[in-house]
Amino acid sequence: MKYTLSILMLSAALQLSASSITSPSGELSLNVNVNPEGQPYYSLSYKGKTIVEPSKLGLKADETTFADGFMIAGVDTVTVDRSWEPVWGEYSSIRDHFREMAVNLKAPQTKDQPEREMIVRFRLFDDGLGFRYEFPVQEGTNYLTVKDELTEFNFPGNHKLYCIPGDYDTDEYLFSETTFTDLPEALNSYTRHSEAQRTGGNTIQTPMLMKTDDGVYINVHEAALMGYPAMLLDVDSKNFDMKAHLVPDRLGVSAYVQAPFHSPWRTLIVSDDARDILASQLVLNLNEPNKIEDTSWIKPMKFCGVWWEMFTGNQKTWAYSDDPLAKPGVTDYTKLKPNGRHPANTENVKKYIDFAAANGLDGVLVEGWNEGWEDWVSYRKNRQFLFDKPYPDFDLPALRDYAKEKGVKLIMHHETSANASDYEKQLDRAFQFMKDNNYDAVKTGYVGAVIPRSEHHTSQWMVDHAKHVIERAADYQIMVDSHEAPRPTGLCRTYPNWLAQESARGGEFESMGGNPPSHTCILPFTRLKGGPMDYTPGLFETRMSYYGEGKDSQAGTTLTRQLALYLTMPSPMQMVCDLPENYERFPDAFQFIKDVPVDWSDSKYLEAEPNRYITVARKDKHSDDWYVGAITDENARNATIDMSFLPKGQKFVATIYEDAPDADWKTNPQAYKIRTINVDSKTKLKQHLAPGGGGAIRIQPKK
Ligand code: NOJ
Ligand code: CA
Repeated sequence: MKYTLSILMLSAALQLSASSITSPSGELSLNVNVNPEGQPYYSLSYKGKTIVEPSKLGLKADETTFADGFMIAGVDTVTVDRSWEPVWGEYSSIRDHFREMAVNLKAPQTKDQPEREMIVRFRLFDDGLGFRYEFPVQEGTNYLTVKDELTEFNFPGNHKLYCIPGDYDTDEYLFSETTFTDLPEALNSYTRHSEAQRTGGNTIQTPMLMKTDDGVYINVHEAALMGYPAMLLDVDSKNFDMKAHLVPDRLGVSAYVQAPFHSPWRTLIVSDDARDILASQLVLNLNEPNKIEDTSWIKPMKFCGVWWEMFTGNQKTWAYSDDPLAKPGVTDYTKLKPNGRHPANTENVKKYIDFAAANGLDGVLVEGWNEGWEDWVSYRKNRQFLFDKPYPDFDLPALRDYAKEKGVKLIMHHETSANASDYEKQLDRAFQFMKDNNYDAVKTGYVGAVIPRSEHHTSQWMVDHAKHVIERAADYQIMVDSHEAPRPTGLCRTYPNWLAQESARGGEFESMGGNPPSHTCILPFTRLKGGPMDYTPGLFETRMSYYGEGKDSQAGTTLTRQLALYLTMPSPMQMVCDLPENYERFPDAFQFIKDVPVDWSDSKYLEAEPNRYITVARKDKHSDDWYVGAITDENARNATIDMSFLPKGQKFVATIYEDAPDADWKTNPQAYKIRTINVDSKTKLKQHLAPGGGGAIRIQPKK
C-alpha cells in the first residue's frame, strides 16, 4: 500500500454544546447538536444554502435504543490531507482531504435503558459529507439486534429525484426522473421482478441523485458496507424527507452486531457543478486502504465471451441438455442427450480464443461450461451447480492448453443461482480448481431468490457472503466480477481484486426491449459512485431478436455510442460483448475497442448533466495517449470538447469515431464516420452526437 501522509493536523477540542465544522474550502458547513429529548441531529449547508435541514441520528435495537437521553460528552476534530494510489482506476493518485469531527454522545442509565455511549464520526470533504455510527465496548449492552436505523436526510424543497424503486433483491431497474411529490406515481409504474423481491412503500435505493431548483446536485449513498445490511431510503413525499431503511432478513432483523462496531458511512456528495459529482472520489476515500499486499497479479483486462449468443434469442442455452431432471453430481451427464444448442463447447470456445488472440483481448469468459444449468431458475426448487464439473462437450484440459498457447486467459463463470450457502461450501474447491486450470478471474452470479431462504440479496448475511468470497478469492489470487451482489460501496479500494460488479440494469437488457439512451447518462451519477460496473459495452449489431421470444429488440444506441461507453462507463474489467462476426463487419470501428485502455492515470469531466449527456477525457496509464468519450440521450447534441487538458505546446493527432450526420439510434444506428485531425491544447472541437448517439476519440502525440 503506497500511502502518503502529507499533512496531519491534530486539534482536539472539547466543546460541550453545538458543534460545527466547515470543509477545507469553507463551502460546506456541518452542524451537530442534541435536541431537548437528547436525540442527536445534524444539518448541512453549501455556499450558504441549506442542503440538509436538521435531521435525526440514531439506532434502534431490541436490547436498547441509541436515540435519546444523550449529551455531547466530547468532540474531537482533526484535519487530514493525504493522497493514495489506487491499484487501478480513473486516476493514478487520489487526494483524501477532509475535516473530521467525532462527536462523543453519552446517555446515563434510566429505568428502562442502560448507560449508553455512541460516537458519530463526520468527515466533511470539499465535495460532500460522510458520517458513521461507532459503538465502543461499554457498560451497557454490547450485543445488538438492530431493528431500525433512525438516520434522516431532510431536504428543504421539492427536488428533482433520479432513482430506482426500493427492492431487497435487485437493482436491475431503469431510473425515474421525478420529484418528491411525484415519486409515489413514478414508483407505481414499475413492474417488480418477482413477489419475493418486492419492498413496497415509498422506498428507493441508493446511490440516488437529486437536483435542487437552484442547480445543486446531491448524491446519497453509503461507503464501506460490511457486517451490516444495505441501506434503502423511505421517502416522505410531502415533507421532502428521507429516512434510512435497513434491509431486514425474513425474520425482520436488519443486523446482529457486537461492540466494538461501526456502521458503514452514510454519504452525501454535493456540488453545483454536475461534473464534480462524476469526479468525486468521496466514497472510495471513506473506504479502508488496500488490504492486499502483493497486487502484481491484479491485471485490468478486456474480454470477450461465450455469452451474447445466449441472449440474442436464437435459442442457444447455458444448459447442455434439455432434461430438466438432470441433477449435478448424481446424473451421469455423458448419458444425457445433448440439446445441440450449447455454445460452451470446445470447438466454439476455440473460436473465441482465436478471436481474442487476433485482436489483443486479454480474456475469454465462458458461461454454461459446468453441470447444473438444466433447472437453474426454478425459484422454488433447490438449485445447485458444481464448480469443478465441466459438461461433456467442454474439454477443459484441451482448452486450457489452447488458451495458454494463444496467450489468452479463460475467465471462469460461477452462476450460483443465488444458492450462496452451497457456494460457500464449494468455494475452496472451486478456487483451487480454477488455479489448477490456469484461470485467475471469475464472474459470479446470483440470479433467483437467495438460499438460505431467510435472506435477501442485500441483507447482512449476503453482505457478509460477498466479503467472504472476495477475501477467499484474494487468498487464491483471483480477480472477481460479481453480478447480482450487494451494490458496491467502494470496497474495491480495500479489495482491489474486486474489479467490477453489475448491480444495476446492464447492457444485457438491450435484448429485452432495450435500455433507453438516457440510462447510461444517469448510471455514472448514481450506480458508478460505488465502483466500476460490468455494463458490457461494445454492441455493434443493435437490432436482435428478443431474449427467449420471437419478437425483435432494439438497443437504445448508435454504434459509435458503444465506443464512447468505454470512456463514460470506465471499468478495469471491460467486456467486448458482441459476437465476433458482428465485429468482423465493422473492422475500422472495432479498431477503437482494440486500442482503448481500461486503466487511467487521469480523468477530466468536460461536460455533464444527469440523464442528458456526459463528455469525459481520460489519459492512458501506460502511454501519453488521451481518449475522449461523449454520449447524449435521445436528443441530438453538439458536444464541446475543450482540449486544454493536453500538455501545452505539443501537437497531437485525433482519430474521431463519430455518428454520421443522418445517424439515429432508432432509424440509422450503424451510420458512422472516422476522420483524423490535428489537435493541441487550444483546440475546442464541436462534435455532433446523433439522437441516442455518441462519439469516441483517440488522441496520440504527433510523431
Ligand atoms: C445474469 C447475468 O447478469 C448475466 O450476465 C449472466 O449471463 C446470466 N445471469 C447467467 O448467469
Ligand atoms: Ca444481472
